[in-house]
Amino acid sequence: MNVELKNKTALITGASSGIGRATGILLARRGAVVVLIARRDKQLQDAAQEIKASGGTAIAITADISRTEEIDRCLAICLEKTGRLDIAVVNAGRGLAGGLLSSDETQWEEMYKLNVLSAARLMRRCGEWMVRHGAGDIVVLGSVSGYHISPFSGFYGSTKWAITALAEAFRREVASRGIRVSTIKPGVVESEFQTVAGYDRDNFYKTIEKYGALLKPEDVADAIAYIVTRPPHVLINDLVIRPAGQDYP
Ligand SMILES: NC(=O)c1ccc[n+]([C@@H]2O[C@H](COP(=O)([O-])OP(=O)(O)OC[C@H]3O[C@@H](n4cnc5c(N)ncnc54)[C@H](OP(=O)(O)O)[C@@H]3O)[C@@H](O)[C@H]2O)c1
Repeated sequence: MNVELKNKTALITGASSGIGRATGILLARRGAVVVLIARRDKQLQDAAQEIKASGGTAIAITADISRTEEIDRCLAICLEKTGRLDIAVVNAGRGLAGGLLSSDETQWEEMYKLNVLSAARLMRRCGEWMVRHGAGDIVVLGSVSGYHISPFSGFYGSTKWAITALAEAFRREVASRGIRVSTIKPGVVESEFQTVAGYDRDNFYKTIEKYGALLKPEDVADAIAYIVTRPPHVLINDLVIRPAGQDYP
């Protein structure tokens, strides 16, 4: 086991599947105590078990982080059980097929609440603790769809545009206080994301046929591990990672 994150605690939201799960497994392998957060208990426990079976330490917290009190509860458990918070991966999020006319309007609020407001609250809560302790890494999941706003996922893209702006604003707010805030913008990653978003052949799969092999959650986890293992004076501010064949968005 490579232990460059030994004695560090990493809190990861959306850790029951996809990028969050892969990140939890990788950061644990690098020596961090990982605090895994998501709503589905079984998937979360499975991830924690996998980490423990290979010698790592994982704490699973079942929570809906679109509720402010649940964010506070997660942070309280993290601090109570590990006594610290070194890395926060602000990852829980969801997509939504379509643009302003074609997306399901009944899902707009839920998506904004999760992708923007809960992500911002998590950044704020973690940032408050990190500022008090003079160090910390916050990695925020943006998306290539958040700066190339495309019609097939325009509404979702707007949430990632917003959270990217907030992350950069936050970086400027806390840069001089020992906190590194990074945004990572993946292209298409194969995960549960596409099903949750409601993508189908017409609104998504036709577009990506030409991309070839897509990213795996482990590819993004690897980039996140790179970000949080830089020497203290180095910040990876903004990282774009795509399938090599993805020309747009
Ligand atoms: N896949 C892509 O192509 C892609 C590209 C760019 C950016 N991203 C971003 O990457 C992040 C992770 O996506 P992914 O691809 O790994 O998707 P995923 O496999 O669907 O994972 C999403 C995770 O978020 C959790 N989650 C959803 N709502 C939650 C809530 N209210 N409270 C707590 N956890 C919640 C889900 O777990 P539960 O259902 O158990 O709660 C799940 O663990 C998202 O922010 C997404 O926007 C994805």
